[in-house]
Amino acid sequence: MIPAIHASPTALKPLDQNNQGTAGKMPRLLAVANQKGGVGKTTTAVNLATALAAVGKRVLLIDLDPQGNASTGLGVKRSDIRKSAYDLIFEEGLNAAELAVPTKVPGLYVVPSSMHLAGAEIELVTAKRREYRLREALRRPLPFDYVITDCPPSLSLVTLNALVAVDAIVVPLQCEFYALEGLSHLVKTIDRVRQHFNPKLDIHGVLLTMYDPRNRLSGAVADDVREFFGEKVYQTVIPRNVRLSEAPSYGLPAIVYDMKCPGARAYIHLASEIIRREKKLLTEQEIQNQNNEHYTKEEAV
Ligand SMILES: Nc1ncnc2c1ncn2[C@@H]1O[C@H](COP(=O)(O)OP(=O)(O)OP(=O)(O)O)[C@@H](O)[C@H]1O
Ligand SMILES: [Mg+2]
Repeated sequence: MIPAIHASPTALKPLDQNNQGTAGKMPRLLAVANQKGGVGKTTTAVNLATALAAVGKRVLLIDLDPQGNASTGLGVKRSDIRKSAYDLIFEEGLNAAELAVPTKVPGLYVVPSSMHLAGAEIELVTAKRREYRLREALRRPLPFDYVITDCPPSLSLVTLNALVAVDAIVVPLQCEFYALEGLSHLVKTIDRVRQHFNPKLDIHGVLLTMYDPRNRLSGAVADDVREFFGEKVYQTVIPRNVRLSEAPSYGLPAIVYDMKCPGARAYIHLASEIIRREKKLLTEQEIQNQNNEHYTKEEAV
C-alpha cells in the first residue's frame, strides 16, 4: 500500500547523514538510459524515484543531463544550485550525500545538474580514469537505498560514466515506430562496458512508455519489444498521459501533482515491480553465495 505523499515544506530537511540508519550501506545503483531523445528517461527517473521514496526508501536522484529537466521537475531552482553532478564527477573525494539537495518529497534528494555538464564531455577526454569518475564517487556506503541516475540523450563519456558506475540500467522505450532503432547500439555499448569496465552491469528492465491503447501501432511496437527482450520487459507499461507532461512545469513529480492520474499510478506499479525484481535478484545472489561458500569449504576439506 502506497502511503499518501504530501509535498510539504517539512519535507525539505537537509540530509542528516548520521541518523538515517542506512549510512553504512551500499545503495543499489540504477541508471535510466537510452541515447534516443524524448523517450521518457527523465519522467521515469523522477517518478520512479518519487514512488520508491513514497514506500519509505531513501532515494538520491542524480541529474547528469545539462538540460537539467530532472532538477527543475523536482522544483530545484537553477539559482539555488551551488554544487552539482559536474562537481561529483570532477572533484575527487566529494561525497554524493554532501551534494544531496532535499526535495518536497520526503526521503527524496537530488544532486542537480548544471550547465557545466555541457562542457564535461570535453574535459573528460583528458581526465585521469575518465570512465570511472562517477563510479569512484558512488561506490561507497551512502545514506540511501537507491541512487538513480538520469542520463542525457547520448552515448557520451558522461553517459559512459553512469554505465560504469551502476549495477543496472532501466531502458525506457517509447511505443512508436522507431522504438527499436538505435537500440542495438545501446546493447553493444552495454556489452563493451561489461567487457572493459563493469562486468556485472545488467539491464534491469526495459520500460514501454507513452503507450496509447487506441493506437494499433503502440500495441504492435510493444509486442515487438517483448519478442526482442523477453522477460526483461517490465509488465508495467506507462500510458501516454498529459498529466505526466504537465507536472514538471509545477516543479513536482506527477505522483505528487496528481497521484490518481493513470501515469502516476503506472509509475507506482513500476516501483513495486522493481522492488519485487530486486528481492528476487537478492535471493538468487544469496543462493549463489551460499553455493560458492559450500564449494569453497568442500575444496578446503
Ligand atoms: N507517458 C507520457 N505521456 C505523455 N507525455 C510524456 C510521457 N512521458 C514523457 N512525456 C513527455 O515527453 C517529453 C519527453 O519526456 P522526457 O523528458 O521524460 O524524455 P527524455 O528521454 O528524458 O528526453 P531527453 O532525451 O531530452 O532527456 C516531455 O515533455 C515529457 O513531459
Ligand atoms: Mg531527459
